[in-house]
Amino acid sequence: MTTGLNREEIEKKYNVRPFKEATPSKSGIKPIELDSIDLSLFKEGPENFETRKQLADKLEKSISTYGFDHLRSIAQSILELPEETKRNHLAGALTSDSEDRSKSLGGERGAGFKPRGYWSMKNGVRDSIEHYNFRDMLQSKFFDEDKNYPEVVKEYLPEISEYFKKLHLDILRKVTILCDIVLEIPEGYLWENYYKVIPEDYVNSGHGFGRFMMYHEMKPEDEAKVDKQVLRGHSDGTGFTFITSQPILSLQIRDYYTGEFKYVGHKKNSLIVNAGDATEFITGGYFKSSIHRVVAPPDDQRQFKRLVIIYFCDPKYPAVLDPEPLNSPKLKRLGFVKPKEWEKIDFAKWDDEKGRLFGKKEVNDSQGDEPNLVLLYGRLHERWHQAEANFSLEEAKKKYKIIEINN
Ligand SMILES: [Fe+2]
Repeated sequence: MTTGLNREEIEKKYNVRPFKEATPSKSGIKPIELDSIDLSLFKEGPENFETRKQLADKLEKSISTYGFDHLRSIAQSILELPEETKRNHLAGALTSDSEDRSKSLGGERGAGFKPRGYWSMKNGVRDSIEHYNFRDMLQSKFFDEDKNYPEVVKEYLPEISEYFKKLHLDILRKVTILCDIVLEIPEGYLWENYYKVIPEDYVNSGHGFGRFMMYHEMKPEDEAKVDKQVLRGHSDGTGFTFITSQPILSLQIRDYYTGEFKYVGHKKNSLIVNAGDATEFITGGYFKSSIHRVVAPPDDQRQFKRLVIIYFCDPKYPAVLDPEPLNSPKLKRLGFVKPKEWEKIDFAKWDDEKGRLFGKKEVNDSQGDEPNLVLLYGRLHERWHQAEANFSLEEAKKKYKIIEINN
């Protein structure tokens, strides 16, 4: 890129250096062991179907692997840019509640920085997370000269795009093929119809946005007011989310059956694969969009920063968000069909509405761990209870405060 400075000078100017990873916690916390899948065993071709089938069987419980060290050095420097530079490159407004969504995708999905305090949390607390988002890495417009990137970001665009492209074009494609096998539909179906990327064809291509995310320590009084939940429980609106595994014990997932939050353990050079809302809807609720949250680390890991690199993979915007187009024998056999209360919607609609809700005061000002629920197109915006016996929208309406949005 033409920034005037060479790579060595940029590295010096922005103090690009290896990220110092946290040491393992001796707190005695026992994380759950997620199933892991070694994608190096994934081989194409009919003769290797059996191996892919075995991987697919493991995926039915879910996860994947890939490495990323250099990118963390870059992420660290970007997140250490001076406040003034960050303010000149914001993804949206300074708070979610003041965001004009007709103009911006907001701090969650827009390109640029989300400042600390953007999200409203429980009891009047503001969040202490900073992130920088990238969009359009899968298309050539990522490199357009008129994009407003900070100098250090511009320098590393090739590496950044290469990393996220690898996740989308290679890892995601393999994950979706394994899902095809689980669903007993032709291999490549989900990729071809939902996620594949066609150069310069924005409408008919799958998408994704990348994020470098840094958790700063919260003031002790604030931390107490949010019960140590520095990022409240939520599901992602995406198809899939890939999160780099890191050693600080802080990410938790909610057990659908018991409602208990459990720590996710660390595996070096691994990705945690999270199914999002789009995947849940496309499979009629067979695959669950996981409810996850981030809590303050144990005392012996507090001096380390939690830096994560996330890739949010989205299906193409016109993709229908119910299981009818899949025609999956497996889903039919198991009874996962489109519930009648679901309106027929495409991903663009869900992405737009869901993307507005995360940091809203009205949603987060709730008793307990769960936010106030919002009904969107016949679906709850987060579904914490769908694995419970006899759960239905009717029951939820009796038990919880549900905000209805008229579209
Ligand atoms: Fe998330």
